[in-house]
Amino acid sequence: MLFKQQAWLRQKLLVLGSLAVGSLLYLVARVGSLDRLQPLCPIEGRFGARGQAEFPLRALQFKRGLLHEFRKGNASKEHVRLHDLVQQLPKAIIIGVRKGGTRALLEMLNLHPAVVKASQEIHFFDNDENYAKGMEWYRKKMPFSYPQQITIEKSPAYFITEEVPERIYKMNSSIKLLIIVREPTTRAISDYTQVLEGKERKNKTYYKFEKLAIDPNTCEVNTKYKAVRTSIYTKHLERWLKYFPIEQFHIVDGDRLIAEPLPELQLVEKFLNLPPRISQYNLYFNATRGFYCLRFNIIFNKCLAGSKGRTHPEVDPSVVTKLRKFFHPFNQKFYQITGRTLNWP
Ligand code: A3P
Repeated sequence: MLFKQQAWLRQKLLVLGSLAVGSLLYLVARVGSLDRLQPLCPIEGRFGARGQAEFPLRALQFKRGLLHEFRKGNASKEHVRLHDLVQQLPKAIIIGVRKGGTRALLEMLNLHPAVVKASQEIHFFDNDENYAKGMEWYRKKMPFSYPQQITIEKSPAYFITEEVPERIYKMNSSIKLLIIVREPTTRAISDYTQVLEGKERKNKTYYKFEKLAIDPNTCEVNTKYKAVRTSIYTKHLERWLKYFPIEQFHIVDGDRLIAEPLPELQLVEKFLNLPPRISQYNLYFNATRGFYCLRFNIIFNKCLAGSKGRTHPEVDPSVVTKLRKFFHPFNQKFYQITGRTLNWP
């Protein structure tokens, strides 16, 4: 009799235990899926005070997962409909400067759960052929996102191309514009290095930097050389200021983004009215690369491609000094206009 009662009790306990475990598993799965489906807070309005708004914990992983599905071509129309995904025109554009660190900035901002990057440089506003295809063509080039997220694209040629400010203004006169700059002489050498590498890949010879940057007839800085002209930041910015007030620009210090990215990214989060979500956890220094790399989560991390962070050729120090002297007054003007002093030599 006693034995029978014990067996009955054991059976009951087993059923109750299975029910409890089952319910627990169901709850975990349900909370997880709700969390993933929960739309993110809108950029303005629902964020409230900085740091108070809550993003779903899994937003970042989910964003990556979704991106992966799209890359693999698995994201169906159903997927898009279920998650209310849309292709949105950018709310912010990294307009330049070439070799300033535009790719690093875009990739690092993409760590933020409310930011979705357009991976490719679209060259919509600087390329007449693309521009003629119209705004719908441009929008369709954008990645899918939640309506509350912001899309960011980068095309560094925008900064130096004459027609671009007016064209962007016509699309959205209140758009936010990001410019990442580096010390002008270093940037010019980086620009040259990229072109040199392209020539070498095609087994072509190329001039030395010194020959291009200094006019052999006058021995002065050659302002016809594009790599020099691009580094006269103030000249280009002045063209943009005919369309946009300075408050719509944010200057990112590209040299600091290399050495200490987090504070620079936090300034951008503030400028974009985003709650601070990028943390030191998301950025780790990779000694082999000599640069900071990105950590999305415990499994996924990545460094930028090898074409970012090339070794520069040695440049005659007297040429470097001459260039730095040449850029100095333009830099002063740039600090004055932007309100950001960068202490370049
Ligand atoms: P160098 O190749 O001269 O070192 P862009 O993306 O605008 O072409 O800029 C390229 C520059 O980004 C590189 O120039 C590199 O110095 C800089 N950069 C900034 N952060 C980086 C990072 N985390 N990894 C690699 N390159 C980075």
